[in-house]
Amino acid sequence: MTSLTAIHDAVATSAADALIVGIGPDGTVVPHPQLAEGPRAALGTAFAALEASGKLGSTTVVPGGDIVAATRVVGVGIGDGDLNALREAAGSASRACGKKPAKVVVALPCDNDGAAVAITHGVALGSYRFTSYKSDAEDYETEWLIAGASKVAVERGGIVAEAVNGSRDLVNTPPLDMYPAVLADEAKSLAAKYDLAVRVWDEVQLAGEGFGGILGVGMGSSRPPRLVRIAYAPKDAVGTIALVGKGITFDTGGISLKPSKGMETMKSDMTGAAIVLHTVVAAARLGLTIGVTGWLCIAENMPSGTAQRPSDVIRIYGGKTVEVLNTDAEGRLVMADGLVAAVSESPDAVLDVATLTGAQGLALGSRTSGVMGDDAIRAEVIAAAEAAGESMWPMPMPAHLRESIDSKVADLKNIGDPNGGGMLTAALFLKEFVGDTPWAHLDIARPSFNEGSAHGYTTPGSTGASLRTLLRFLAERASA
Ligand code: BES
Ligand code: ZN
Ligand code: ZN
Repeated sequence: MTSLTAIHDAVATSAADALIVGIGPDGTVVPHPQLAEGPRAALGTAFAALEASGKLGSTTVVPGGDIVAATRVVGVGIGDGDLNALREAAGSASRACGKKPAKVVVALPCDNDGAAVAITHGVALGSYRFTSYKSDAEDYETEWLIAGASKVAVERGGIVAEAVNGSRDLVNTPPLDMYPAVLADEAKSLAAKYDLAVRVWDEVQLAGEGFGGILGVGMGSSRPPRLVRIAYAPKDAVGTIALVGKGITFDTGGISLKPSKGMETMKSDMTGAAIVLHTVVAAARLGLTIGVTGWLCIAENMPSGTAQRPSDVIRIYGGKTVEVLNTDAEGRLVMADGLVAAVSESPDAVLDVATLTGAQGLALGSRTSGVMGDDAIRAEVIAAAEAAGESMWPMPMPAHLRESIDSKVADLKNIGDPNGGGMLTAALFLKEFVGDTPWAHLDIARPSFNEGSAHGYTTPGSTGASLRTLLRFLAERASA
């Protein structure tokens, strides 16, 4: 990222590569206290000549000319102008500011901290790019100047956006270079940087302590699995929340091999762990008054002569046995280990985040995550998602599906009813490992990764979906 700054100067006279203004539903330029009436009227004429649309996220670009000091003016439709619309609009506009903008002034309506944070998120997330593997990528930094925002809103919004973009970087990194030990090392270096407690279990320690889920999934790979515990424990904490993330650095399906098409995006299967890691970091940087313990369940799911087989029985941390009938249902195996470890510390609640099932996409599509778990905490997560502007929907855990994961030879099997409801059955499987701890499960399978082109603040590739919801959940608990 680049820099984000609140400014209170007149925007028409600020030299910049681009000036972003809002276009209202009637096609006129939305007023802003730092945009004088003269230039606003002249820009209105220019945008009207191009029939600029006020439709949310629609962008129209005109030259700054003699009207403003900026080289170009990006008019972006702000729809109904609520916080979600502002975030989307800022994201779309951030990608219409020219090839390598060094300085952009953002003059979207920003008369409260909520709007300032939404706009900050929009530009910081929408302008994200992942170019580490492009030989011809020219590096550049953009200074985003957010007119009318408070300094603290921009700072706090920037911390959250950095967390989302940090998780995106981890996920977007090709699995050749992003394998379990590397992800665990990332956690270690972030822990060192932000003074967080961290422990990494390697494969020998995992075996010694009986983490059979993570070991079973990881045993087919030449690059052994890891478990990470990273904790933020402020002195004035009102309580502690545990977060557990699925960290499959690549999911081939294992011996139950995926078809090639289904495998293409499977570097995204570590999104839960990347989100949990950066949520803990952001909670610390924001100084939330709540303890947060993150558990990253990390393995690479590969087929090989040492891989686990369908019909193998493994022993999850704590002792429950699972018959592995499909090695592609590996997420629930590593998550089971992580959940048992997490609840053993008696947190106030445990939230888990996982790209767990293709069934999530069948049920809810590519932009809406499914939330399961205890009624109260599920509702709390949904409320946090709404406040954060992320699309999530409550899903049931029908009791009748539970028996479909009974095994003839072990305590459970890792696949259930073949007639649908796969997302719900997976949740019922996880529930077996949380005991009495209040719990919610977020299935972010499809929303974690944008296979299409950019829209709003969502760029192609990793999206960082669910991080803002988790942080909002934590902030609400901290201030309750
Ligand atoms: N990582 C996948 C789920 C997934 C699918 C994430 C598509 C993102 C996009 C998971 O490990 C998996 O393969 N689940 C199986 C479970 C089945 C074998 C019971 C699935 O959903 O097909
Ligand atoms: Zn799988
Ligand atoms: Zn998976």
